[in-house]
Amino acid sequence: MIVDAAVYLDPGALAEQMAADIRAGLTATPKTLPPKYFYDARGSELFDQITRLPEYYPTRTEAAILEAHAGEIAAVTGAESLVELGSGTSEKTRLLLRALRDAGTLNRFVPFDVDPAVLKDASAAIADEFPDIEVEPVVGDFEKHLGSLPRHPLRLLAFLGSTIGNLDPAQRREFLAAVRATLTEGDCFLLGTDLVKSPDRLVNAYDDAQGVTAAFNKNVLAVVNRDLGADFDASAFEHVAVWDERNEWIEMRLRSLRDQLVHVAALDLDVRFARGEQMRTEISSKFRRERVEAELAEAGLRLTQWWTDPVGDFALSLSVPV
Ligand code: SAH
Ligand code: TRP
Repeated sequence: MIVDAAVYLDPGALAEQMAADIRAGLTATPKTLPPKYFYDARGSELFDQITRLPEYYPTRTEAAILEAHAGEIAAVTGAESLVELGSGTSEKTRLLLRALRDAGTLNRFVPFDVDPAVLKDASAAIADEFPDIEVEPVVGDFEKHLGSLPRHPLRLLAFLGSTIGNLDPAQRREFLAAVRATLTEGDCFLLGTDLVKSPDRLVNAYDDAQGVTAAFNKNVLAVVNRDLGADFDASAFEHVAVWDERNEWIEMRLRSLRDQLVHVAALDLDVRFARGEQMRTEISSKFRRERVEAELAEAGLRLTQWWTDPVGDFALSLSVPV
């Protein structure tokens, strides 16, 4: 059964926040565009394609770890509610839902995402496979609305896909503190983190041969055109993915192919791009166990389990509030 979606991000609030974020990003030096605006309906569809690319190993690796350990996760957590942040299509989540159902504890699934379209489809698909649980979708921003999450007992809060890596260190600190604040005794936090590996494999995962990641990256320009009346010409930008060794993150950028002036009508803003100028759109941080454990600890979370695939490409960790 699906309960009506709780909406913390009404279209008005989202539009206002987007206008402020885009203005700040386009007037900064260097220019940036904030990643949450990748995920309109088209962006979610492109991300779904990314997860199936041969170069994009994280999704299938995390799924394999879940397949191997979902039973153990269900047994250790005894969760009644599974709350998933940035749930997207909730495809991998089915592995957890099945294990929790088979363990006999599950009664509710709360998918939480900024994109109402992907949330609606995912909720319907999950309700179909799991007719005996309550599906309670939430439209919100996980950087703002964790304090309003439904407080059912024995929650397993899941944040998969290494989406945490798309936050910078300061945002991550704030996010993990908010996660800690929403958890009470008996709750657990399941976190997916992509691990540091050879730069070649990392760069290929974010610059695939078919150009799907390039299309995903450029989609943010289409979002700004549509929602803020901008006149970005996507063909005048090129997708760039570079490994930042010092920060241990992949940085996605859009490089201007010519000198150009972009007008953003809703912001009454003209933005000049020089030929070759690069605008940062997203980071994807890669982790080591020590860092994950330390950041969790700093937030008041104690790591209790750490699972990886056999070659150590990706990790799932379970932690509990201290
Ligand atoms: N969990 C899925 C999807 C990962 S893609 C997986 O592992 O494959 C990241 C998801 O987070 C997208 O569905 C996107 O819409 C959502 N998202 C991105 N920024 C968000 C934010 N600030 N608040 C809530 N959801 C967000
Ligand atoms: N959390 C995913 C990651 O960092 C999101 C992602 C995958 C992504 N591919 C992307 C974000 C390409 C921007 C561009 O791997």
